[in-house]
Amino acid sequence: MASSPGEGEGTVVGVAWRHIGAASELSGKKCRLVYSSLGRQSDVCLFSVKGEFFAMDARCAHSGGPLCEGDIEEADGILRVFCPWHDYDFDLRTGKSGTSLKQQVHEVKLEDGDVYVKHASCLSLQPFPSEVKISL
Ligand code: FES
Repeated sequence: MASSPGEGEGTVVGVAWRHIGAASELSGKKCRLVYSSLGRQSDVCLFSVKGEFFAMDARCAHSGGPLCEGDIEEADGILRVFCPWHDYDFDLRTGKSGTSLKQQVHEVKLEDGDVYVKHASCLSLQPFPSEVKISL
């Protein structure tokens, strides 16, 4: 069962494991946008590639492009997402880029068939009501 936006929304409670949903459901799409209670700049991309999950900030470190819409390619055993706006690449595991930029990545764990992401804010597959968002 996915977390609902009502769980601690708008509250910063420190870095913790955030329940996202069942791996069986989440693995059906290459990427899911996961909403942050801190607002748009803290949203997360949850990638599902070859049975593995990866999480990184959803807005590209360059100019905020939507990484969830990027292509994923594997070269030399490294999985990379390519930003759809200017084609910068980011390693899904480390966030490192061929440029000097680095995308913030987040730890992911699987427990009892569910996916969790370590994050400083509450996360949800549903948008949080805008009135409870906290500006950064
Ligand atoms: S916004 Fe992503 S490469 Fe420019």
